[in-house]
Amino acid sequence: MNIKIFINGFGCVGRALAKIIVEKRDVIEKKYGLRIEVVAIKDSRGAVFSSEGLDINDLLKLIEYPRSSIGLYEPYGRMDIGLDEIYDQCSPDIHVELTPSNYDGGEPGISNVLYALKRGANVVLANKAALVYKFREIMGIARKKGLVVKYKATVMGGTPFIDILLSLKTIHVSKIYGILNATTNYVLTYMHRHLVDLDEALGNAKSIGIAEKNPIYDIEGIDAAAKLVIMSNTLGIPLGINDVMRTSLRNVSLKDIVDALRKGEVIKYIAQIDFEEQLAEVAPRRIESNNMLAGIDGLMNAVVIEHEYGNIFFSGKGGGCRETASMVLEDILSASMRGV
Ligand SMILES: NC(=O)c1ccc[n+]([C@@H]2O[C@H](COP(=O)([O-])OP(=O)(O)OC[C@H]3O[C@@H](n4cnc5c(N)ncnc54)[C@H](OP(=O)(O)O)[C@@H]3O)[C@@H](O)[C@H]2O)c1
Repeated sequence: MNIKIFINGFGCVGRALAKIIVEKRDVIEKKYGLRIEVVAIKDSRGAVFSSEGLDINDLLKLIEYPRSSIGLYEPYGRMDIGLDEIYDQCSPDIHVELTPSNYDGGEPGISNVLYALKRGANVVLANKAALVYKFREIMGIARKKGLVVKYKATVMGGTPFIDILLSLKTIHVSKIYGILNATTNYVLTYMHRHLVDLDEALGNAKSIGIAEKNPIYDIEGIDAAAKLVIMSNTLGIPLGINDVMRTSLRNVSLKDIVDALRKGEVIKYIAQIDFEEQLAEVAPRRIESNNMLAGIDGLMNAVVIEHEYGNIFFSGKGGGCRETASMVLEDILSASMRGV
């Protein structure tokens, strides 16, 4: 069976996804009988599309194309093209939303996802903001239309954590807490190891491409708060981004780190939802060095789920373009196997 996918957003994750599809397409076909055809790719300025599917050579060339210019790619590229034309020409089975997560209202993700559902496409997202603002609406529309929306890559990007939450159908969860943002965990780890202040650690993270030029979503806890919102809604408990209390990582000084280390403790940027206390927060916390979360360093993420029968500890790669793309591909397969 051919599965036609449309990659909307062709930056770091989109390009990594295209590369993994090229690498794994034959294996996927052999193992599952599914042929993944990339029928369209769009960036902020243009798109390439072919109703037959772009071939491997085109995909490989597009991965190397400069940002914002895939619309210039001959003969499939077009600048300034909207979703209507892409859907009219290609009728994708799966819409993959990889545009930036924008926490000032959730666009363009929200409109793109709602459009895809309106046109009868299943949706896979790494974009978090669309779900943060419209989780229930998006899921409700998908359910009514018999479509699926998958979003494993939105929380602990490179690790299938959302699957664990979705598997807890009757088990009562009282609390979830952990380290949900790889950039800030890297920065804190660097501060502890090199005894430098936040700006110096952040400078290092920027210089090696771990932190964005303006890492405000990470440092102010917005990214981690967004993940709490997605986790809570996954469990069927509504939570809005403004319900999450946030304390900036800027509040952590080098002196705080040294004080903690002297007492056998470390500082971690902990995100937690306490369902009993109805409390959701992201804040720097001192934890003892024998706490399981204390050893989660660098780009790793980890979460503890406290439930009525005990605890689940889950740890893995928090992000990275290729890791995140690998989760997107897993979701594409599970959406496909549901009978696209
Ligand atoms: N990177 C990670 O490790 C990671 C982990 C988990 C989740 N995510 C999420 O995954 C998504 C993609 O991340 P990324 O790192 O690939 O971001 P990115 O490198 O900034 O790429 C974003 C892409 O979206 C395009 N875009 C922007 N506005 C658009 C629009 N209106 N229509 C179509 N395309 C548009 C950009 O176009 P131009 O190329 O023209 O600028 C670019 O191709 C984000 O939502 C992010 O939060 C990322």
